Amino acid sequence: MRADWYEFPGWYDILHAAGTAREVDGLSRMEERFSEARGRRVWFEPACGTGRYLRVAAGRGIGVIGLDRSAKMIEYARSSLRNRGLRGELIVGDMTKFRTRRKATFAFCPINTIRHLRSDSAMLAHFACVRCVLLTGGVYAVGIETCRYGEEFPSEDVWEGRRGAAHVRQTVQYLPGKRGRRAERVISHLAITTPRGVQHLDSRYDLRTYSFEQWSRLIARAGWTCVAVCNGDGDDAMRGPHGAVVGDYGVHILKPR
Ligand SMILES: C[S@@+](CC[C@H](N)C(=O)[O-])C[C@H]1O[C@@H](n2cnc3c(N)ncnc32)[C@H](O)[C@@H]1O
Repeated sequence: MRADWYEFPGWYDILHAAGTAREVDGLSRMEERFSEARGRRVWFEPACGTGRYLRVAAGRGIGVIGLDRSAKMIEYARSSLRNRGLRGELIVGDMTKFRTRRKATFAFCPINTIRHLRSDSAMLAHFACVRCVLLTGGVYAVGIETCRYGEEFPSEDVWEGRRGAAHVRQTVQYLPGKRGRRAERVISHLAITTPRGVQHLDSRYDLRTYSFEQWSRLIARAGWTCVAVCNGDGDDAMRGPHGAVVGDYGVHILKPR
């Protein structure tokens, strides 16, 4: 079957939920180190998907706000909070055009999700919306892999997860972007095994590419400053001679100017 795999939140969650508590530890450390916002801790996650980070954060007493354009993802996130007796503000909406009821002390968008926005104008609109959500002194932590045009080769990752009798295996191929085209092609194949048999789901999509310089220029144009780049644990990432992150993936801590 060919379909958008983000429309299957149950399978997404089986693949990605393991390890989330540790990632939330890292996000907490980033908030402690860099956010100067006062008041009760409230986290905002644009493109929150199944809300796997938000339910861990809410379980630790943090107020949570999530947004995703997929109504199925938001419904999944809502029930996973409800089933644990937790609450949060969950919104079906686009990352480039939204408002929230409450404001946040900390916002975050990990694992390259921001690269779903495919133009400078979409990114500028997104940053303007996040600015409105953050309390004064708050920061936005964006996890992004920058690229080196002309130096990269096709690559492949395999992810696996199990819940009860269901096993999900994802094979993802990445075809590197070219400087002019600004798109990395992602080809995903899911195999879902349950007692009823094996189902297959194929999806393809593009993620916008950024060299470290393109990313830095865009942040400046949007009126934000990068105050640090962290690893997943919230410690400073290793940086190369021109400031680019060694290994290319880092969580960029951004502050509105
Ligand atoms: C890789 S998932 C990340 C989900 C979650 N942040 C996590 O790490 O588990 C990407 C999510 O981005 C959402 N998404 C993509 N483009 C979006 C947009 N323009 N506005 C809102 N959500 C979007 C998809 O529906 C999907 O749930």
